[in-house]
Amino acid sequence: MWASRRASGVPGSVFALMDAAKGRARAAGLQIIDLSIGSSDLHPPEAVLEALREATRDPATYRYPLFSDTRPLRDAAAGYLTRRFGLTLDPDTEVLPLIGAQEGLANLLLAVTDPGDTLLLPDPCYPPYLGAAAVAGLNVVTLPLRQERDFLPDLEAVPESVKPRVLLLNYPNNPTSAVADPAFFGRAAAWCRAHGTLLIHDHPYAEMTFGSYRAPSALAASSVGVVELHSLSKTHHMGGFRVGFAAGDRDALAALARVKGAIDFHPYLGIQRAAALALSLPDDRSGAETFQARRDALVPALRALGWDVPLPQASMYVWARVPGLRDSVAYAVRAAERTGVALSPGRAFGAQGEGFVRFALMQPPEVLEAAARRLAAVPVEARMPAATD
Ligand SMILES: Cc1ncc(COP(=O)(O)O)c(C=O)c1O
Repeated sequence: MWASRRASGVPGSVFALMDAAKGRARAAGLQIIDLSIGSSDLHPPEAVLEALREATRDPATYRYPLFSDTRPLRDAAAGYLTRRFGLTLDPDTEVLPLIGAQEGLANLLLAVTDPGDTLLLPDPCYPPYLGAAAVAGLNVVTLPLRQERDFLPDLEAVPESVKPRVLLLNYPNNPTSAVADPAFFGRAAAWCRAHGTLLIHDHPYAEMTFGSYRAPSALAASSVGVVELHSLSKTHHMGGFRVGFAAGDRDALAALARVKGAIDFHPYLGIQRAAALALSLPDDRSGAETFQARRDALVPALRALGWDVPLPQASMYVWARVPGLRDSVAYAVRAAERTGVALSPGRAFGAQGEGFVRFALMQPPEVLEAAARRLAAVPVEARMPAATD
């Protein structure tokens, strides 16, 4: 009765279906292996936790944080961007703290678009992108990400009649685990410049990279006309802390600061101190190495089932095309109910995700191998009842 058109436009989630299926499996006595949610099971660095504990004992952190109070975090974020990507950004005008990348994106869309503007969005994509687009009243035009193009969009295929206000990209990618090289970001930034489009690059997996691969920043292509969203949720296992930062185009960031000024007061000062410390710590690859070992256990186990699974170079996911799969939602529900293994159906991420499933690497290697073994018993398509049944 009271839901606005804006609220009603936010798509529902198939994760409620998965939750119900997990509940039925639990009730049937199955042990659940939950690989459906991308929330890191590792812990933040101890020094970061200690900085937060200490901050809670300092009464100076109890008041509303003002913009000037965010200076140490903005400095630490700018320092990280320099150390990691060789970027020089002004911490006063080109960096802004966020209450997570997800909050940042939703408010950034409100800040840089008007209702009816066009947003170019990859399909498949992280589902909250669609909700943020609905809240901002945007017209979404999807860019298919196909395996034969390494899950990179073909911007040249966008019809001239489409006049996007914003192009949203995300590499390392959720859900496909695909990565993009600096030349791709250079082409995307040039395309955006030519079309009067703001490029937003959502970059929460910047440090979740494997072997010698390191993810580039889209800001290396340009900090004008480009905004990049960073998060400590994955890089430092701080998802529950709700902290990240936006960096790049100063006009877009000034608009974002205005919108945020009407909505929030920046993260708690103690969390800002913890995040500033986390961004200043020496490079620590141990978290990424843990996820790499999990990838190395799961991918061969899935290939042994006859599945077509590329070896991801980054992210916390394995994106697998399942031979013969036509209904990924029904398959994921069936898998959870029959084996207790919960994964994400590809269709939850967009129409182009049909035929795929996503595994979040949130369990140790031996549990991931056990999950793959259990899946061997799940038929890809439901058995149709015979005419005589
Ligand atoms: C692509 C992508 N963007 C944003 C987020 C959320 O980031 P944050 O916790 O900083 O809001 C996630 C979380 O899974 C994600 O996969």
